[in-house]
Amino acid sequence: MNYLIDEGILKMDTQTEILEEKKNQNLDFSLFSNLESYGHEEIVICSRPEVGLKAIIAIHDTTLGPSLGGTRMWPYESEEAAMKDVLRLSRGMTYKSAISGLNLGGGKAVIIGDPQTDKSEMLFRAFGRFVDGLGGRYITAEDVGMTELEMEWIYSETKYVTGIPKSLGGSGNPSPVTAYGVYMGMKASAKKAYGSDSLKGKKVAVQGAGNVASHLARFLSKEGAEIYITDIFKEKAKKVAEEVSGTFVDPDDIYDVDMDIFSPCALGGVINDDAISRISCDIIAGGANNILDDEVKHGEDLIDRGILYAPDYVINAGGVINISSELEGYDEDRAMQKTERIYDTVLDIFDYAEENSVTPVNASNRLAEERIESVKNLKSIYSSKSGFSGRNSEIYMRDRK
Ligand SMILES: NC(=O)c1ccc[n+]([C@@H]2O[C@H](COP(=O)([O-])OP(=O)(O)OC[C@H]3O[C@@H](n4cnc5c(N)ncnc54)[C@H](O)[C@@H]3O)[C@@H](O)[C@H]2O)c1
Repeated sequence: MNYLIDEGILKMDTQTEILEEKKNQNLDFSLFSNLESYGHEEIVICSRPEVGLKAIIAIHDTTLGPSLGGTRMWPYESEEAAMKDVLRLSRGMTYKSAISGLNLGGGKAVIIGDPQTDKSEMLFRAFGRFVDGLGGRYITAEDVGMTELEMEWIYSETKYVTGIPKSLGGSGNPSPVTAYGVYMGMKASAKKAYGSDSLKGKKVAVQGAGNVASHLARFLSKEGAEIYITDIFKEKAKKVAEEVSGTFVDPDDIYDVDMDIFSPCALGGVINDDAISRISCDIIAGGANNILDDEVKHGEDLIDRGILYAPDYVINAGGVINISSELEGYDEDRAMQKTERIYDTVLDIFDYAEENSVTPVNASNRLAEERIESVKNLKSIYSSKSGFSGRNSEIYMRDRK
């Protein structure tokens, strides 16, 4: 896939000369059909060859408020792969914020490059200027391949950044809050499956022993759950197992553990045909993104097997809830309180799924879409606000620097 770049930014338009040029270069237009099927508002392609910057910012939907989503740095094998990823991820953010009750839209950015070798101050400052040029339509945050240092460089060029270090007045590492949300989602699932939300004595198998998983294990241990934990870095899992008086499990054996609840907190796509044929449990509730390899097929397979699935993007929303709290002036207790609402949201989703005979993921998608449509309708009432950009977000942004 190729694009025409004008002053470093390509905006999607249909000017005759661009069409002519594309015809001459024999390019296809699958990009536009992708945009149409995903329903994106705007894509910005950022190029600054002097500093090696190749980035794409995707703004999916701003009905609920400014689009918010992290920046991912990844050595994509092709520009098309980068484009597909940013389209998928930004759309996911729209649904995540909508179902979480946030006044935020969905956006995401990808920087094409190797996080080990291609980082420089000027690359990220240049990227920060592109973000700033969007005037708040897109607010960025940390994602895969990024660290606090790069976020600080971006922040030096734009105030439209969240998830900045606590030392700069931000919310810092979101993982403990994400883990708390996963824990709440798991308790709500237990309420649905067992009639009680107590996890005392429940056997919970946790895949991964990283940031989210280790905090989750601590919440579970406090409640008296029996924890089985694994990681490809075995020492990491052994350390957490020791801390929470749990049991270390070899990575290959995690699906075969005698368990009540499975909590994937490492990778996406782990619930596939093979895993489903091996796992025997009542609930799957984890922090990883895109846990179901095939959302439709595996969502239905789990129902057939009597396994209750808590949609991942709903229960791992603590991270975005946490960083979005920065827009109101960060307060950790308030972020935790908002994250606690994941419990009720998950129960609402299960009820909707049951009433409408759909999978929990389908129910969640529909509820998110209904919220977006309702706000669209609300906008037909005149308001003195120039836009629906979230309660205090614009005011706070203005005061921040
Ligand atoms: N950190 C957050 O706030 C947050 C928010 C939303 C979603 N998530 C998602 O949660 C997941 C975990 O995030 P994290 O921040 O804890 O990452 P992390 O890198 O700290 O932890 C992931 C752990 O999984 C392990 N791992 C990788 N492959 C494995 C395998 N096959 N079997 C067992 N262990 C394996 C890694 O070694 C690592 O220790 C990711 O999918 C992430 O996208 C995280």
